[in-house]
Amino acid sequence: MKALLICALLVNFAKLCNCTSTHDQVLSIPVTTKEQAAIARNISSQNETVLWSPAAPEHIRAGTEVHLFLIVTKCICFRVLLDNTEELIEMQTRNDSSDPRSSASYYERYHSLEEIYFWINEMAQDHPDMVKVLLIGSSFEKNPLYVLKLSGRQERAEKRAMWIDCGIHAREWISPAFCLWFVQYSLNFYNQNSDITEMLDSMDIYVLPVMNPDGYQYTWTTNRMWRKNRSVSQDINCIGTDLNRNFDANWCTVGASPRPCDEIYCGLFPESEPEAAAVANFLRSHKDVVKLYFSIHSYGQMLLFPYACSNEQVPNHAELVELVQEAAMKIKRHYKNNYKYGASAETIYLAPGGSDDWAYNLGILYSFTFELEDRGRYGFLLPPSLISKACNEALLAVKSVAISIPTLQ
Ligand code: ARG
Ligand code: ZN
Repeated sequence: MKALLICALLVNFAKLCNCTSTHDQVLSIPVTTKEQAAIARNISSQNETVLWSPAAPEHIRAGTEVHLFLIVTKCICFRVLLDNTEELIEMQTRNDSSDPRSSASYYERYHSLEEIYFWINEMAQDHPDMVKVLLIGSSFEKNPLYVLKLSGRQERAEKRAMWIDCGIHAREWISPAFCLWFVQYSLNFYNQNSDITEMLDSMDIYVLPVMNPDGYQYTWTTNRMWRKNRSVSQDINCIGTDLNRNFDANWCTVGASPRPCDEIYCGLFPESEPEAAAVANFLRSHKDVVKLYFSIHSYGQMLLFPYACSNEQVPNHAELVELVQEAAMKIKRHYKNNYKYGASAETIYLAPGGSDDWAYNLGILYSFTFELEDRGRYGFLLPPSLISKACNEALLAVKSVAISIPTLQ
């Protein structure tokens, strides 16, 4: 596994740095598990490598010894971005299985899927007046998709709603951590902090802490770097669809892939994945009340809005810029951290089939994707000690946008 990881790093970062000197290498990779076989197939189909043995990636199975030639003839070098990822991963999962509820800093740690389910239950029991748990569907592997509905105690006639989903992409652990952070903060600071009180009194807040439970669980048990869900469709060797390419917004055009082995595989058809369909069905049936949509990802520090699926500007582009600009300024002021902001396609890349674009087209005109910390120092492996800052920044941005949108008044 370690050899594979190093190899993956080599191939991924080779392109990034300036050359000093280096030499070609052939790696021998003893593949023992199905997962390792998948990784080896993946690496061996990249341009910078030539598979020496077996003859084709399809032939790599558990039990195969893979020989891989790394082409570095054109003076390719690399820098080690992260050393000792194993130790970092170990740090992230420490003490969740042994005694998850032992310490005061519960929200400053990452939690397993099972633990998050337990937490959801506990929230509902401890705050029966403000929290309801809704089951909106289940995943490919039949894990439940629970949504927490948070409501203030004030009855208002025309109550709007806001939606937050976390954990579309399995390896982005800071995202579910944020949903947990957001819920506890909202409950603790209701009637204490004026923004939170205003937010909860004027809107019901729907929070989906883990939109991709199968993938999330898989990152805890098997492959920390898994992104997609875990559905099996056309190709039994290549599992998973990218849920953020599976929504009906210029579905499967440039920026998504029709190939099941790819990380940005769009699935068989829009909403082919039960996780995407559950969210889409829920939002469709609540579209008259939901005015605000947030999807939480990592990493990159960006506050994004539609479109990601085309270079076209949305009609309220200027207003959305203003909202995220204000949020970014507040983050800068309080946490001395820079967030980029703008329409997704121009800020990062074309990414069709995203949940935010779909929600926007449904009529939720305040629709956002936030990419939380960091900028790549730790990437998906953000250490637990950095959870609180990352979450506080995102919380500030969510509050800032939520209390500024005109539909609230
Ligand atoms: N990084 C995320 C992804 O690749 C979000 C990119 C922007 N896409 C979007 N629909 N907002 O899926
Ligand atoms: Zn993501």
